[in-house]
Amino acid sequence: MTHKDFRKRYLCLQQTNRAMNTKILIIGACGQIGTELTKKLRNIYGVENVIASDIRKLNNDVVNEGIFEVVNALDFNQIEHLVEQYQVTDVYLMAALLSATAEKNPAFAWDLNMNSLFHVLNLAKAKKIKKIFWPSSIAVFGPTTPRHNTPQYTIMEPSTVYGISKQSGERWCEYYHNIYGVDVRSIRYPGLISWSTEPGGGTTDYAVDIYHKALENGTYECFLSEETALPMMYMDDAIRATIEIMQAPAENIHVRSSYNLGGVSFTPKEIAQEIKKHIPSFTITYKPDFRQKIADSWPASIDDTVAQKDWNWKHEFDLAAMTVDMIEHLK
Ligand code: SER
Repeated sequence: MTHKDFRKRYLCLQQTNRAMNTKILIIGACGQIGTELTKKLRNIYGVENVIASDIRKLNNDVVNEGIFEVVNALDFNQIEHLVEQYQVTDVYLMAALLSATAEKNPAFAWDLNMNSLFHVLNLAKAKKIKKIFWPSSIAVFGPTTPRHNTPQYTIMEPSTVYGISKQSGERWCEYYHNIYGVDVRSIRYPGLISWSTEPGGGTTDYAVDIYHKALENGTYECFLSEETALPMMYMDDAIRATIEIMQAPAENIHVRSSYNLGGVSFTPKEIAQEIKKHIPSFTITYKPDFRQKIADSWPASIDDTVAQKDWNWKHEFDLAAMTVDMIEHLK
């Protein structure tokens, strides 16, 4: 057997072993991130080891191509029942109300974003599950945070309901880790861009919508002003980050609140210019609405050197590569 064959066999065995020991429950599997994450986790761990769940049963790949259960993220008993039924080891809690939607329904956003997290943290505290992934966001930062190259540790005074819930969630994750030994891992996602799933009510949604409208109508009216720079990331990178942080040895994960995750940073004007390279007749107009204020309170770019150091994080897609891939797929 050559070294290459041996390595291949070793990786295969490792994968089988991992799959045998890992049973995954994804809560909020039909959302923007959940949809892609479910597909990827089924590939890695095997369809029989991944239980997708959401509040509604849609007619999509998440539901049709593997195990799917209807679950309300606010119902502790339902989640506990699923965990016991499938002997779940790892939970990915992807259900949440995002920034723009949360401003319209603060009480429900607080309830959903916080209590679903407590349910999962308490299951881990009771040793019913082993590992949790919980997403945080750039929304944990606020107007008093240094805007450029925002460091891992800095001033955090979020001014949105969503940001307040994510920052509180981070504090609770760290507390459950320190006091109860819960293995919870988290990253602060920037705005996420993907061709296969719709975004779910965030301030960064324009960066997905713009591609759809460019191809459909050749023009786009942006709800943020042209110079509003925000941190963004292509979905492929975000999914890889999620899986890499979950597969990293526990002793490497020094941050138990949430890791900064950088990617690219651009303004609506810059993304429009990039689209024009492929669709020269594309035009953009600007009509900022209430989301402008949210965007203005967030960082323009993120320093993720701590994630790089702790679990070897490195993003791959820049604005140009992302644009090529988006347009290719959406066409
Ligand atoms: N994309 C999110 C939002 O705009 C940020 O985490 O709400």
